[in-house]
Amino acid sequence: MSRLSERPAAAVVGQAVRHESAALHVTGRALYTDDLHPRTKDVLHAWPVQAPHARARVTGLRVRPAYAVPGVVRVLTAEDVPGINDAGVKHDEPLFPSEVCFHGHAVCWVLGESLEAARRGAVAVEVDYEPLPSIITLAEAIAAESFQGAQPTVQRGDAEAALARSSHVFHGELELAGQEHFYLETHAALATVEDDGRLFVQSSTQHPTETQEIVAHVLGLRNHEVTVQCLRMGGGFGGKEMQPHGYAAVAALGATLTGRPVRLRLNRTQDLTMSGKRHGFHARWRVGFDDAGLLQALEATLTSDGGWSLDLSEPVLARALCHVDNNYWIPDVRVTGRVARTHKTSQTAFRGFGGPQGMLVIEDILGRCAPLLGIEPHELRRRNFYEDGQTTPYGQVITQAERVQRAWDQVAEDGDLARRRAEIAEFNATHEHLKRSVAVTPVKFGISFNLTAFNQAGALVHVYKDGSVLVNHGGTEMGQGLHTKMLQVAATTLGVLPEIVRLAPTRTDKVPNTSATAASSGADLNGGAVKDACEQIRERLAHVAAQRLGVPAPDVRFSGGVVSGLGTEHTLPWADLVHSAYFARTQLFAAGYYRTEGLHWNSTVMRGSPFKYFAHGVAATEVEVDGFTGAHRTLRVDIVHDVGDSLSPLVDVGQIEGAYVQGAGWLTLEDLRWDTGDGEHRGRLATASASTYKLPSFSEMPPVLNVTLLERAHEEGAVYGSKAVGEPPLMLAFAVREALRQACAAFGPEGTSVDLASPATPEAVYWALQEARAGHDPEVEAGPGPTPPEADPAAPTRHPESESALQHLSEA
Ligand code: MTE
Ligand code: MOS
Repeated sequence: MSRLSERPAAAVVGQAVRHESAALHVTGRALYTDDLHPRTKDVLHAWPVQAPHARARVTGLRVRPAYAVPGVVRVLTAEDVPGINDAGVKHDEPLFPSEVCFHGHAVCWVLGESLEAARRGAVAVEVDYEPLPSIITLAEAIAAESFQGAQPTVQRGDAEAALARSSHVFHGELELAGQEHFYLETHAALATVEDDGRLFVQSSTQHPTETQEIVAHVLGLRNHEVTVQCLRMGGGFGGKEMQPHGYAAVAALGATLTGRPVRLRLNRTQDLTMSGKRHGFHARWRVGFDDAGLLQALEATLTSDGGWSLDLSEPVLARALCHVDNNYWIPDVRVTGRVARTHKTSQTAFRGFGGPQGMLVIEDILGRCAPLLGIEPHELRRRNFYEDGQTTPYGQVITQAERVQRAWDQVAEDGDLARRRAEIAEFNATHEHLKRSVAVTPVKFGISFNLTAFNQAGALVHVYKDGSVLVNHGGTEMGQGLHTKMLQVAATTLGVLPEIVRLAPTRTDKVPNTSATAASSGADLNGGAVKDACEQIRERLAHVAAQRLGVPAPDVRFSGGVVSGLGTEHTLPWADLVHSAYFARTQLFAAGYYRTEGLHWNSTVMRGSPFKYFAHGVAATEVEVDGFTGAHRTLRVDIVHDVGDSLSPLVDVGQIEGAYVQGAGWLTLEDLRWDTGDGEHRGRLATASASTYKLPSFSEMPPVLNVTLLERAHEEGAVYGSKAVGEPPLMLAFAVREALRQACAAFGPEGTSVDLASPATPEAVYWALQEARAGHDPEVEAGPGPTPPEADPAAPTRHPESESALQHLSEA
């Protein structure tokens, strides 16, 4: 056991405690960024002037009429920017654009004494637009070769040759839709000017350091002149990893120009129409199997829809390419990725960060090919699982293959799958218009930022004279329970009761140069740093205790708020020791630091060992589909998931449940639609409210949702033997999509291969089962596959956002 992973007896980590702010959340006393403005004197409110074109040149901008509106204080335009007019780190996101790049793009902002005054002021601003041709769909972008950023390839062996050798070769396409974050709290910022032009910006941000840097560069300040604080977020899900910066910068600019605090909070429609979403992807692929159904080769091109600017599209794409294998050994691989530039919101991080999109490609392939190979889908999946010692296509060695196998077996057993499969067969045989199916899918998800430098974190821990402990760390709390886990880590390391530990809001002047709280690595990284800081304090206190207890310092023990020594009955209460340590002039605070060892990654050739470890899980999902309407419901879900030795089991189970449901929403309900026509609303987000964008709600909750944490799962390489949990379980939801595919197939003859659009909305499921009914000839020809044609943008479509998803799987 490593020092990092070793867990003392009676540890506070591992206890099933509730979220540290649970009582505040449910009573409404928890403060979020936008709760601060009513407490802020003289605050101004900001409202955007949103462009009504997908793409247009701004040829005239007259702000004067806005000033005639009572209560309007200031209109912010590009000319007001003292620093760099850019809201991103890629220098491709002008904060005040001269060219509109998506429908709803903010060209300027109005500040008012009230929100209503700002809104009316924005209506009064006169803008002249010269509309320009736009690209809305991925198919249009591919046809026009409208791409941005790098085009990396993950490659091993010779995929062409291996395809030529394979006895079964298939090719196909998949278009999968994006997803709206729909965090409960929309983007929000509150900026205040302090003396000497320094700024204090409160922001709902997963990445306070980068928000600080962008505010500084827009205002032409140094980083030490800007402090960013994030109290907590009402959800981020990746949507607040890079996109809060511009809003914070607008508020900060407004505060600087007016000398008054500025509050900016997007209403729901503004948030939906202005902020980025999960990337939709298009995939074109060829795959080869041997006679036993073992994967031989995969050749694919993944194109993501980046929207108007790069934002995080390149790292999202890299993660997609690194997850196209999911948990399957594929000897020869060549997968190329590219980012399309379209005139839509700039798509961004979303729970899984490209991993879900990459993995969906291989799961779709296996689901479509299993009937053509005459192998049960669950059997085809299991046969292709990794074994220890094999490597991923990018070269990382697999060491915990046994865990997926164990989770798989446990799901089969706990979920009573053999019996239920027989029952389902019976049910389907006796029900003409209702079909059921159960599917099982695995998850293997890499933990660490692909970019090695981000894998570091800091903490600042204070012990006050009364023994109470205040923990600052670089991570942000967005509901995921990071603060709860850090509280448990600090209490464990210091050997104190959790009641005397508090977490402070995240601030850039407490811990500098932080990474985004993202990639599920918040607890690993900040946990390592908090532990380091607490260990320093504990060491110093051990010397004071040694004198008082009459034992050598290494023999002092801290546990449960009591300090004891080996070989003595005498003990000291924690607070007592701290008090005397202060008078003995002992430093009672410490800065902690952690960096993940053993990572290496070459992003140019896409090779290395970018991940500290993999998180694993398996889900089984049973669904029922109505043959008249395609309406479907989930009957039961069984999950076994690997979180290492859990730091906080209630938090982890909650993360797994929430992630599964969020994944199921992405794959089966949520349906982003943009106006793709040539009319005046081209490019407009048609699903710009909760009434048109269907989120999972209580009525979609599976009536049975069993979540079990995998046992014997100690993780050597992470704090107190735990593993990251935030993102990986989202991909457990592949099971619901595969179950729907199988239920559709049950409407057709034996061996039917079903192409299912993503999202598999009732409409899409209806079309899929109609095709199954029509009968699909599963005959397979052996031999090498032809090079597939480029995606045909003019191909007939049933679903505007996933035209090729319904295209038949073609045989070689
Ligand atoms: N859980 C809640 N309740 N709210 C969120 O916004 N974000 C997810 C996940 N779980 C999120 C969440 C995402 S995208 C990530 S990367 C992780 O939490 C980030 O937190 P962690 O690194 O502390 O796990
Ligand atoms: Mo999570 S998508 O890495 O913020």
